[in-house]
Amino acid sequence: MPNDNEKSFADGKILKHVDEGIGIITFNNPDKRNAMSLDMWEGLGQALTGLRDDDAVRVVILRGAGEKAFVSGADISQFEKTRHNAAASEEYSKRSAAQRALLADYPKPTIAAIRGFCLGGGMQVAMLCDIRIAAEASQFGIPAAKLGIAYGYDGLRHLVSLVGPSWARLIMYTGMRLDSAEALRIGLVDRVIANDEWWNATVAIARTISENAPLAVKAAKITIAQVLKDPAGRDMEAIRQTGAACMDSEDFREGRRAFMDKRKPRFTGK
Ligand code: COA
Repeated sequence: MPNDNEKSFADGKILKHVDEGIGIITFNNPDKRNAMSLDMWEGLGQALTGLRDDDAVRVVILRGAGEKAFVSGADISQFEKTRHNAAASEEYSKRSAAQRALLADYPKPTIAAIRGFCLGGGMQVAMLCDIRIAAEASQFGIPAAKLGIAYGYDGLRHLVSLVGPSWARLIMYTGMRLDSAEALRIGLVDRVIANDEWWNATVAIARTISENAPLAVKAAKITIAQVLKDPAGRDMEAIRQTGAACMDSEDFREGRRAFMDKRKPRFTGK
């Protein structure tokens, strides 16, 4: 039986658990290479909300079940009913908009832990996370042009900001697949790790984040998000406030004292 820390959503296709301050969400439909149905988007939103509201959770990892895929894209078998023309497509997009916005503006650091296929909507999920750590045996691509799908502003904005306009065009015009080495070289992922070390290495990164001062991590997250906005849309006051909260915090005092005492700091997020 799952304990309190373990919950499942979307008929078990989205799993959530917490391991020592690290929230873990698993896309769990390995028979379909973890293709994302609309109910999985809803389940993802519920899992993200639960981890957001759990004070014990300091960082969230998203991963796919099995070794073959992170997420192989949107569930194409739903398209005939739900995404067959412009109006249906807009409605379809609206049904995952709240969950995408939640992930985009998530208040805690997020890591996409990618092993296997990361395609289409899977790339969208991975690109909405703060950091992407891939196992060597991963493949990336956005085959929208092979299916006849127009990609929206948000999806392409993230792609362009990670890999630049020229690679974004090559990826979108061809629908090509990239291996992990090429994905690393163009900045689509941040680190590539041998398959058998990848999960432990990803958890180690999450653990490091979870042991750091939460307000300092939050200040970095908020400020980097503002840097990515157009200058006119930047909230400089939010940057000032998060910076002030951090520099006035008990954790900053603890960080200074621990350094002088040559011991490990104990941060509380206050
Ligand atoms: N939507 C719906 N079903 C999918 C899917 C998707 N995005 N990706 C995989 N599946 C299903 C397959 O239809 C197949 O179902 P079946 O067992 O009932 O035949 C099952 O998952 C396994 O896929 P298969 O193609 O046999 O596995 P593979 O390891 O040879 O290839 C992929 C895996 C991911 C490369 C291949 O399935 C694929 O190209 N999927 C579509 C990717 C895509 O276009 N995504 C963008 C959507 S916007």
